[in-house]
Amino acid sequence: VKHLIVVAHPVEKSFTLALAHAYAEELEKIGQVQQTRDLYRMGFDPLMSADELASGASGDAAKAQDDIRAADVLTVVYPLWWLSMPAMMKGYVDRVLARGFAYESEKGNVRGLLEGKKVIMITISGAPLPLLIASGNWNAVQVLQDTHIFRAAGFTLLEHLHIDKVAPDMPKAIADKHLARVRACAQEHFRGNLL
Ligand SMILES: Cc1cc2nc3c(=O)[nH]c(=O)nc-3n(C[C@H](O)[C@H](O)[C@H](O)COP(=O)(O)O)c2cc1C
Repeated sequence: VKHLIVVAHPVEKSFTLALAHAYAEELEKIGQVQQTRDLYRMGFDPLMSADELASGASGDAAKAQDDIRAADVLTVVYPLWWLSMPAMMKGYVDRVLARGFAYESEKGNVRGLLEGKKVIMITISGAPLPLLIASGNWNAVQVLQDTHIFRAAGFTLLEHLHIDKVAPDMPKAIADKHLARVRACAQEHFRGNLL
């Protein structure tokens, strides 16, 4: 199984990056092939230009589409910012999951073109998940991100692993527990699965 991990957080030493690296490391431990794209460190340009909107992906977005073509499983890792994704990740979605590559639409009906590929979402928030659920916010996240972006593009969502109550002063024991959850996620889905 070939994995593409796409992570968006401006700080290299952030917990978001730590989760992505732990997940990648665990995949390699069980014999999986992975490549990680750290959008900020790559200097990915999240802005859709008029030219690109008219003529399709170019430059780093075209390369990112090649990454997806080559992958069986896409794993995205990002924090919830204003209940949404960081602008960097949103720009990746805008430019890379573009019409003609990730979807076609006719009279408002969207058809995903990435059928057969799988996606795992790993998101984090400061807010506790039960609070997000009770307020209806979690439903909004799932509608806009899980369903409207990734499922609409044709991906099968294997898991949306959400790590909540992430704070800068988080005790190490809690951080380790969260890192163990992403490692377990890699194991659960892909141990022994070397297709
Ligand atoms: C611009 C910005 C907006 C955020 N918006 C939310 C939010 O809407 N809900 C939430 O629970 N946490 C929010 N957070 C907190 C993040 O989801 C996350 O918990 C925090 O960035 C810690 O992760 P890190 O150590 O990897 O940065 C926000 C953080 C930033 C910087």
